[in-house]
Amino acid sequence: PFYKAMFGLSELEEKIRRHFGLQQVVIVPGDSDESPVTRRELGKAGCSVLRKAMGNNDVVAVTGGTTLAQVANQLTSQTPLRGNWFVPARGGLGESLDYQANTIASTMAKRTGAQYRMLHVPDHLGEEAYTSLMQEPNVREIVEVIRKARIVIHGIGDAMVMARRRRVDDSVVNAMEAEGALAESFGYYFDRNGAVVHKMLTAGLRLEDIMDTEVVIAIAGGRSKGEAIAAVMRFGHDDVLVTDESAALEIAAII
Ligand code: BG6
Repeated sequence: PFYKAMFGLSELEEKIRRHFGLQQVVIVPGDSDESPVTRRELGKAGCSVLRKAMGNNDVVAVTGGTTLAQVANQLTSQTPLRGNWFVPARGGLGESLDYQANTIASTMAKRTGAQYRMLHVPDHLGEEAYTSLMQEPNVREIVEVIRKARIVIHGIGDAMVMARRRRVDDSVVNAMEAEGALAESFGYYFDRNGAVVHKMLTAGLRLEDIMDTEVVIAIAGGRSKGEAIAAVMRFGHDDVLVTDESAALEIAAII
């Protein structure tokens, strides 16, 4: 019966919450890999967690991806969130326009009456390009805003799926695979223990910024992402996880 299923999910939430020392875990029924309804429900659950975390003058840094697009497309506010800003967490990562962090941030702002800023630079930069871009006052200014965000909301992906989606060079993909890359999040790649493999210079949030962020919200679902989600939770800087039943069952089976 329905109430039993609900009861089961709250036990699962508590088990995962306690294991990773999170503040909150929210699980929606179903499997995002299979069901568009579950993908939408996951997005909706992400909206309510995000809205509860937001105050009056916050900067919210968001990543790209199809899951965050589901959040963006359902985010609403009864009164305009005028004093709040949405910014992309990272520069361009080679995603298609609909799923870029810039697009997601601007959609969230427009739908809620908040402000937004964009970051129009590629994410992975060589040292020289990085140094000279950071000397541009408008790039530097927005990067400083991003790095001080009070709230970060991000997706999680499978490392190899994301590397391919972003057309990362074969040599880099092979090196990462050899280092045990299993998960990807905010442009970083993690092994199964949550250790970062393959660091690179980035215009946007760095790992040290995320470690200082007050509220970090992860949102990802689907059975295929279970291991990747567990790896990022082991990295240990998330406060809230929003996921679905199938991913949660995978996570529970390996913790
Ligand atoms: C990216 C985020 O844009 O989306 C990553 O930067 C995440 O953190 C990825 O891994 C997940 O994408 P999707 O489409 O599976 O939600």
